[in-house]
Amino acid sequence: MQLIDGKSISEAIQVEIGEQVALLTQSGQRAPHLAAVLVGNDGGSETYVANKIKACHKAGFGSSLIRLESSVSEKELLATVDSLNNNPDVDGFIVQLPLPAHIDERKIIEAIRPEKDVDGFHPVNVGRMVLNLPAYICATPNGILQLLKRYSIETEGKHCVVIGRSNIVGSPMSILLAKNSSPGNCTVTLCHSKTKNLKSLTQQADIVVCALGKPGFLSADMVKEGVVVIDVGTTRVSDRSAKRGYRLMGDVKFDEVAPKCSYITPVPGGVGPMTIASLLQNTLLAANKAIY
Ligand code: GUN
Repeated sequence: MQLIDGKSISEAIQVEIGEQVALLTQSGQRAPHLAAVLVGNDGGSETYVANKIKACHKAGFGSSLIRLESSVSEKELLATVDSLNNNPDVDGFIVQLPLPAHIDERKIIEAIRPEKDVDGFHPVNVGRMVLNLPAYICATPNGILQLLKRYSIETEGKHCVVIGRSNIVGSPMSILLAKNSSPGNCTVTLCHSKTKNLKSLTQQADIVVCALGKPGFLSADMVKEGVVVIDVGTTRVSDRSAKRGYRLMGDVKFDEVAPKCSYITPVPGGVGPMTIASLLQNTLLAANKAIY
C-alpha cells in the first residue's frame, strides 16, 4: 500500500507556481491577484480561506480578503461581486461556500464573470469543461487528477466508482475521469443516495472516489484488493483530546481499508491540500489570460 502524499505534492506545485510568478514579475508584469469573499464566520470556511490567502503570500501572489457580515443582503453581495468583476487589479476571485440560507448561491455564482471564476463553478466554465473547451476546472477534482498523474496511477480502461454527486466534486469528477484524456478514459459509475446495491458496485471498482461527506462510510468489505481509494471527506468531528477540540474525518475507514489498497489518500494531507494548489494554478492561468 502506498500513501498518496497530497501535502508534499501541493507544496511542490506551489513552489513551481512561485517560480513562475518570479519570472513574471522579473519581466515587469504585476503578480497575479486572487480575491476571496468570506460571508459570516463559519469555522471551516474561515480556515479554508485563511489557508488560501496564506498560500497566495507564499507563492508571491497579491491577495485580498473581503469579509461580509452573515446578515449581508443578496443585493450587497451581488454589488461586491460586480465590483470584483470590474476591478482590473483582480485576476480571479472566489466567494467561499456555503453562503447563509437567505442568499441564493446559484445567483451569486452566475454573477461572477467566467473569466474571473477561478473556482470553475460558473455554468459557462462547467459547460466548457464538459465540451473539452478551455475552462477553469474546479479545484478539488482537478487536484485529484493531478494526484493520479503525479503517482502515475493508470486510469485508462479502469472502472472508477465515484460516490457523491455534488456540483463541486462528484459530478465534475465523474465527467473528467470519463473523458478521452490522461488521466481519464475510465468507465465511470456515479453513485449517490438512491443507488441500489452500492457495495456490489464498489467491490468491482479499480478506483473509488469517496465524496459524500459521511465520516467512515467506506469500509474494507466494500472494496477489492489492490483498489485505489481517493478520500475527499473532511468532516469536523469533536474530539476533546485534540488541540482545536475537533479532528478531521474522511469518508473512508482508513485503518481497515488501507491494507487492501494499492494507493490511498489520507485525511488530512491527501486531497485537501491539492485544492489550494489548483486554485493558485487557475489564478495564474487567469493572470496570463490563458483560458479566455
Ligand atoms: N466550499 C468548499 N469548497 C469550496 C471551494 O473549493 N470553493 C469555494 N468557493 N467554496 C468552497
